Order: sequence, then C-alpha cells, then structure tokens
Amino acid sequence: MFNENDRFVPATEETVGKAATLIQNGKLVAFPTETVYGLGADATNDEAVAAIFEAKGRPTFNPVIVHVFDSGQAALIADFNDTARTLAKKFWPGPLTLVLPRSAESAASLLVSAGLDTIAVRVPAHPVAQALLYMAGKPIAAPSANKSETVSPTTADHVAQSLGDTLDLILDAGRTEVGLESTILDLSGETPVLLRPGGITQEEIEAVIGPIAIASDDEDAHAPKSAGRSKRHYAPSIPVRLDAEAPEMGEAFLTFGPDARKKAALNLSPKGDLREAAANLFVMLRALDQPGIRGIAVMAIPEEGLGRAINDRLRRAAHVPDRELPRGICG
Ligand code: TXA
Ligand code: MG
Repeated sequence: MFNENDRFVPATEETVGKAATLIQNGKLVAFPTETVYGLGADATNDEAVAAIFEAKGRPTFNPVIVHVFDSGQAALIADFNDTARTLAKKFWPGPLTLVLPRSAESAASLLVSAGLDTIAVRVPAHPVAQALLYMAGKPIAAPSANKSETVSPTTADHVAQSLGDTLDLILDAGRTEVGLESTILDLSGETPVLLRPGGITQEEIEAVIGPIAIASDDEDAHAPKSAGRSKRHYAPSIPVRLDAEAPEMGEAFLTFGPDARKKAALNLSPKGDLREAAANLFVMLRALDQPGIRGIAVMAIPEEGLGRAINDRLRRAAHVPDRELPRGICG
C-alpha cells in the first residue's frame, strides 16, 4: 500500500506546481478531473507515455486521451472540422472527448494514438486539472488512473490502492463530481460515432449536431474495444517479419538489445529496455516504411512487461488480411 506522505498530497497551488514540474520532467502524476482521476504524463514525451502503459499493466497499447488546456492547444495536435468546433464550443471544458485526425504537425507522441491516425482530445473542467495543464504548459496524456481491467478511480485513495507505488505524485482533491468517464465521440469519419457513453449524454450531443451513430462491436467499428482492429490502424505498407535472426535481401532489420547484430537498420533499445523500445516502436516502424525497403525484419522481443504490448502490436503489423494479399498470391 502507498503511504509515503510526500507523494500523496492535497492539491494546492504549491503541489500542483510540483506536479507540473514532474510532468515536464517525464514523470507520472495522478490528478483529478471532473470525471475520474487520470494517470498523467507529458503527451509529447514518448518514454513518459510508454511509462503510462507500463504502470497500467496493459497487455496491449490502447490509445490514450490527451488533455489540453483549451481549444487553442487542442488545435495544435488535432484537425478540427466544423462539427468539432461546434461541440468544443458548447461542451468544453467538460466531459466530452473528441476523436479527430492527428494534425500534420502534431507534437503528440505516436504512442498516444497507439498507431491510429487519430487522436482523442478533451479539455477537462476540474480546476486542479486546468491549473496543472496551465502550469505544465504541455498536453497531458491520461487514461483513468487504475490498473488495466479494474474500475476507474473516483477518489485519490482508489488511485493509491491501484497504482500507488508506480506514481511520482498523487494530487488529492476528494471525490470526482461526475464519477464516470467522459463521453467519447469519433468525428474522424463521415458521420459522428459515439464510441463510449459518458458524462455528456447522446441527447445533449444530438441537440447540437443532430443524429449520431453508436459504435457497434464488430470489426469495422473503431470502438475503443476494437481500436486495435480498426481498418485505419497503422501498419507498415511493407511486410513485417517477426522473430527474425537476420535480415533477408532487401529487408531492414529492426533490432533490440545490446547484442543486436551490426546489420541493424534501427535498434528499438540498444540497452535492452522495454520502455525505451515501446517509446520507439511506432516512430521506427514508420521510419523504416520506405520505398526501396522490401520488408521489415524484427528481432524477437521478450514477452514480458511492456514487451507483451510491443509484441501484440508487432503481430498485428505482421498480419496480412486476405483481401490485401498481392493478386499473384491469391491465384
Ligand atoms: O473521463 C475520462 O475520459 C478519463 C479522464 C482521466 O479524462 N479518461 C479515461 O481514459 O477514461 P481511458 O484511457 O481509461 O479511456 C480512454 C478510451 C479508451 O477506451 C481508448 O481506447 C479510447 O478512449 N481512445 C483514446 N484514443 C482513441 C482514438 N484515437 N480512437 C478511438 N478511441 C480512442
Ligand atoms: Mg480506463
């Protein structure tokens, strides 16, 4: 149990300032929002975002909501259309998360999108969250501050029980007001799709923008559950070969660890650190996905800790759906 008093503190101007400095330094801070407590890290820092996945103990990379101070900061990382602008004006700050295309110049880590070309953003209404975002001067990636597969925390004690020893600071501001997570609306496609019901109701949204669709759980919906299976999920355009010991002709070799052979095009972590490898994964896959490279051969990654999430993502990247097989192969 978590009982170090200096890491579990009431939210005051001083402790929020301390939290902001920790965020700027790539550390993890739990903070209250009006919905539930969030597990926050600098959304522009790949390693800090990787540390979130590590703390949550997820076996997969799930995309993470990026919290911003206002619509202006949101527009730096996501592309807003008219519907998004209308909803932001009406419901922000507040418990509505918008899934939008990543902007071309987005400084947000590719990890917050878990390989999707979209990004989930929201402006939280809680004064402590607002102050933290203002003082940190950075967008803050934050899933709910609980271990994977457990319920979202509505008090700082819940956070401490679930994640205490992995966090650098927990800001306590009592019970959260809304008590359930934000509503997630995907505006990246032709029609708005409700991915998760939450603090703002479907009726409230429809009163502003008209009818919206509800995500089904089938493969083509990009519901949170199936985010990893969404068609628009990033996979390299060239073949990915796993557990490779050496590259074959025309392949780029993506390696891991200090004894990785010299033929490496890129090394996910020369020191064999899974957090560093997670931080580099999407960046390096994209970097190697080049004309002139026939495929990416990836060295085996240990199936432990963050390695499980890395391998999950790599297996998806290596999977070739039938319909995408080159014609010659289908016969
Ligand atoms: O109220 C909330 O939303 C809280 C507070 C801390 O802001 N956060 C929260 O985060 O509930 P989390 O990670 O527990 O849930 C976020 C959900 C996940 O199911 C994730 O799959 C989905 O948002 N999500 C994030 N980015 C996405 C994206 N680009 N496309 C689709 N779904 C996304
Ligand atoms: Mg959650």
